[in-house]
Amino acid sequence: MEIARIGIINVSDRASQGVYEDLPGKEVVRLLNEYLTSEWEKEYAVVPDEADQISRKLTEMADQKACCLIITTGGTGPAKRDVTPEATEAVCDKMMPGFGEAMRAESLKIVPTAILSRQVAGIRNQTLIINLPGKPKAIKECLDVVFPAVPYCIDLLEGPHLETNPDILSAFRPKSK
Ligand code: MTE
Repeated sequence: MEIARIGIINVSDRASQGVYEDLPGKEVVRLLNEYLTSEWEKEYAVVPDEADQISRKLTEMADQKACCLIITTGGTGPAKRDVTPEATEAVCDKMMPGFGEAMRAESLKIVPTAILSRQVAGIRNQTLIINLPGKPKAIKECLDVVFPAVPYCIDLLEGPHLETNPDILSAFRPKSK
């Protein structure tokens, strides 16, 4: 069985300078370990809020490292240096608007400022890229919403088979197309 390689990129000026601990990246790893029962390995990076550096890291993880999934955290808000959605769109062949719509819709039930996240998802070749906000609490709130559809999306991209722990979260795979 092919081992799934998953990229995690914490986009943060302060974490990349070592001022902040990389809590968002650690939260993504924790959640993936909880969700997934199939074997996976991580590609990991912390990059500043610079569009070209974000795009370059996404491209490297998708093209050279063959990640089937890349999850970014942070840089999705309205502030001047928040450029993660633009850097993601720049490297995607197709956008997957349902992911951002679903995450914002569910998050709005929890916090009014969820509307401030411009998070997107898209596909580069065979890699699904998903933006999440930077706060660890927001990361779980958002990833819980979309992850049930992620394994089937990766099946459709002809990537590795992801198995989830049904006690935590059930992946949904339609019986026939
Ligand atoms: N989504 C959820 N589920 N929970 C949250 O607490 N915080 C919001 C929003 N999305 C939040 C959320 C806030 S306050 C901001 S500014 C934006 O995400 C952007 O966050 P980012 O700049 O860290 O990406």
